[in-house]
Formats: sequence, structure tokens, C-alpha cells
Amino acid sequence: MSEFALELKNITKRYPLVLANDHISLGVKWGEVLALVGENGAGKSTLMKIVYGLVRPDEGEIFVDGRRVEVHTPSDAIALGIGMVHQHFMLVDTLSVLDNVILGMEPKTGPAIDYAAARKRVVELIEELGFDLDPDAIIEDLPVGAQQRVEILKTLYRNAKILILDEPTAVLTPQEVEELFKFLREFAEKGHAIILITHKLDEVMEVSDRVTVIRDGKVVGTVNTPETSVAELARMMVGREVILTVQKKPAEPGEVVLEAEDLRVEGAGHRPRLDGVSFRVHAGEVVGIAGVEGNGQTELVEVITGLRPFKGTLRYNGEAVHPSARKVREWGVSHIPEERNDRGLILEFPTRYNIILGDHYREPYAGFLGFFNDGVINAYAEEVVERFDVRPRSIHLIGRRYSGGNAQKIIVGRELARNPKLLVAAQPTRGVDIGAIEFIHQNIIEARDQGMAVLLVSADLNEVMSLSDRILVMYEGRIVGEVRPDEVTEEQIGLLMAGLEAAV
Ligand SMILES: Nc1ncnc2c1ncn2[C@@H]1O[C@H](COP(=O)(O)OP(=O)(O)OP(=O)(O)O)[C@@H](O)[C@H]1O
Ligand SMILES: [Mg+2]
Repeated sequence: MSEFALELKNITKRYPLVLANDHISLGVKWGEVLALVGENGAGKSTLMKIVYGLVRPDEGEIFVDGRRVEVHTPSDAIALGIGMVHQHFMLVDTLSVLDNVILGMEPKTGPAIDYAAARKRVVELIEELGFDLDPDAIIEDLPVGAQQRVEILKTLYRNAKILILDEPTAVLTPQEVEELFKFLREFAEKGHAIILITHKLDEVMEVSDRVTVIRDGKVVGTVNTPETSVAELARMMVGREVILTVQKKPAEPGEVVLEAEDLRVEGAGHRPRLDGVSFRVHAGEVVGIAGVEGNGQTELVEVITGLRPFKGTLRYNGEAVHPSARKVREWGVSHIPEERNDRGLILEFPTRYNIILGDHYREPYAGFLGFFNDGVINAYAEEVVERFDVRPRSIHLIGRRYSGGNAQKIIVGRELARNPKLLVAAQPTRGVDIGAIEFIHQNIIEARDQGMAVLLVSADLNEVMSLSDRILVMYEGRIVGEVRPDEVTEEQIGLLMAGLEAAV
């Protein structure tokens, strides 16, 4: 057996506008977790797609356990013991856990699927891993953390010994991250190998053994985790010092911009999804909503942005409205949605159209007889793409071709550049690299200082703490506490998030 589970030598991949991988060489050893970090668009996902047989490299070699291999399709990768959990899950939403796991690998007795055998194997695996998963649950009913466990299960059902995870924690709650990391450590201790892509450098420090940093498609270096630090990794990634804390002066709140009174949304079960939520957001302040995902935050954002029917009263600038998505936008509300692929971008549209989405039917973009004013649109798109550092710098590339973080920058750019009165930001920096987080945070604070009201919903407690002027904690569809970030600890907010109201 070779020391290295997987080695890549001189992998190169050119796309029309970028050199995504430029002679990349790296290796992961048996028994270790290798973190792969780098800015948005650095080429991480591309490299891993090459390993998994989804993308053909222009040059380079792949070695598995010391042997040179050819990987033309995911089936080749699976046969070599390689499993991959993608940045965006690839499950069939309407099928059960069991069906998703065995899809394409169904055990057969003659022409019929041997369900009993399949179920037995899957149930055994779930037990062995200690996963909290019901094999008969339907995917779309599961929280993201559970969906991810299904993705992992799928790879292990196919006997993966080398596991690649592309930003697995971007959508997880802190508890789910803990569970995932426990699994990763155990998997490595069994002698298997893991490549972990993440933008969260504290996670890199916690769970990895070594780190390879790439920038602009090239390897910058590989370091042993105990011998490095978040600051050094950030510097290697971005090529300059990064300010890791948000710099802001105290808020100067103005008039009430948004007033919510007794908002209610019914749920499917006995418990309402929003159970009498009331609060105000003033011009010039950032109000953060903290909470474990699934406690009503998503519904609250949908109500405020006109995407979901509700009971109760909403006032924008003192005027009671029953909003539609279009009205809300016209009135001056911007929305950074939590699901960037479903709601944020039209994946087949070029950036120049994605950047005016939601305002496309209005002046100055729509002109005579509703024809697009292409000159105006293009100039505006160029400006936003430049200001928000979207890479590559083209306004013609379609949404699907962007790296995850750059897609997010297009959305953030679109929503901020229209100078809203209220920004409703759900997970605004999900999947965004550390330099771009700094940049997005600065932009939000600058807009705040010019009088924009911000409602921030984030599963990242750190982000809520550092960006908010006030924090509302949600639990089971209600606001169970209001705190100021400088007056509480993360632990105290954590207790409130767990429904322990007496904590603060
Ligand atoms: N199918 C494609 N066609 C054209 N360009 C592509 C395609 N896929 C990726 N790219 C480009 O290759 C570069 C690397 O993208 P990749 O997705 O590997 O980045 P990444 O490091 O995973 O970034 P992120 O952290 O944002 O996910 C990007 O500039 C991206 O736009
Ligand atoms: Mg990626």
C-alpha cells in the first residue's frame, strides 16, 4: 500500500475565460483529513470534479494508492473507492432516503430489485455510523443536515475509502457540524482518506491534519495544521492581510422602516411556523435574527419579502401593506435569498440579465414596448460586476458557470447596488471566501451608515454577533429574546436558541 490514498500531478484545466487549474499537484494520505482552501473561483470544485470523473482535465495524472488511474466517469471513480459529496446536493427530492442511497446500485434478484437486501444493508450502515436517519423519510421533508447524511451514506454504500466533501458545512447548524466532524475523524481513524473543501478556517484548524492552499488555479503551499493559524491561511489564500473582525461605529437608528405586528403562519403540524412575531427595524441599523435553522426564520423572510401568505400586520414606512413580491421590491426592499440556486439566479441567464432580475420590467431596463435597453443594462452590469469583484469579469457568462462564491457575489451585488431602503439578507456570506466576506460585511455596514435598514438572518452566529446592532432570537416560531451583541456571550445566545428563555 502507498502512503498516499490519492495523488494529483500537474492537473490543468482551461475554460474559455479562465485557467481553472494550473498544474496542480497535491496528495492526501491514508488516515488523514486534508483541507483544500482557496478564494472563490480558485479552482477547488473543478479539481475535485476532475478526480470524480465529472470534468476532463486537459493535462495531468491521477494516482490512487500509488497506481496511475484513468477516471472518465463517476462510475470509474466509485470503482476506485472515491466518493464525493457535492457543494449542491444531488438527491432526488421526492424519493425516500433508501431509494436515493441505492439509486443506480440496486441489488437485484433476477430482473427485480431486492428491496429487502437493500434495506438491510442501508439500515446496517446507518446503525454502524450512528446517523440519525429514517430510511423511509422523503428527502424534501428532511433538514439539510440529514440530507447531507444521505449523501454521505450514498458514498459509503458504494464502499468509498476516499471521501471528498465540497463545502459540507456551509448549510449546517453548529450541532450538525459537530456531528459531521465526529464522523470525519472516525472515518479517517479507520485508515480512510478525506479531502475537505471549506471556507471556514476555524473548521480547518479543528478537523484537518494538513492544508493545501490554492489561488488562481495554482497551489500556493501545503502546511501541517498544528503549525499554522487562521491568519496565516487567510494570508496565503488572499495574498494579503485580511481583517477578520467587522469594523463599525455604533448605529444611529432613524425612523421605523419595517414594523411587524403579530405575524402568524400556520404549519402543517400542530405548531404554527410563525407564532405571533412582532418587531421593528429602523433606518440605519442592522437587526440580526439568530436561531437554529427551522425555527421560523425562513418563513419570516418569506413573509416580509411577499413570498408567503400570513396573518398579522406588516408596515413599510408606516403604511400597512399586504405585500406581493413585486410590490415589496418596488417599494425598496432587497432580498438576498437563502437558496441561491433556486431563487437567487436564473442559471441559464447571462450575468447582465441576472443582475437586473426583479427590476427587469421597469425603467431604465425595459424601454419602449417592453424591449430591453441593452446599452443601459450592459453598462450597469459592468459596473456591478466590477464593484463586487465578480470573477471572471464577464457579463455574458451564464449563472451555471460561476463558482459558488462568485454566484453569491452576483446576488449580493444586485441587491445592494439598487440602494434599497431595507435589505433582507438571509445567509449573505454562505459559501463566500474570507476576503469576500470582509468585503460584503463592509458594504452592508456602509449602506447602514447611509441609512439602509438591514434584517440579517444567518445560521452563522459569529456573523450575527459581529454585524448586528440588535439581535432577536427565534425559537419555535417566536421571538424569545432581544439582546445586544456587546452585552452577551455566544453561549448565552446559544442557550436562548435552544429555547432556554431564562438564560439571559
Ligand atoms: N463549466 C464551466 N465553464 C466555464 N467556466 C467554468 C466552468 N466551471 C467552472 N468555471 C470557472 O472555473 C473557475 C474555478 O471554478 P471552481 O468552481 O472550481 O471554483 P471554487 O474554487 O470551487 O470556488 P468557490 O469557493 O466559489 O466554490 C471559476 O472562474 C469558474 O467560473
Ligand atoms: Mg466550489
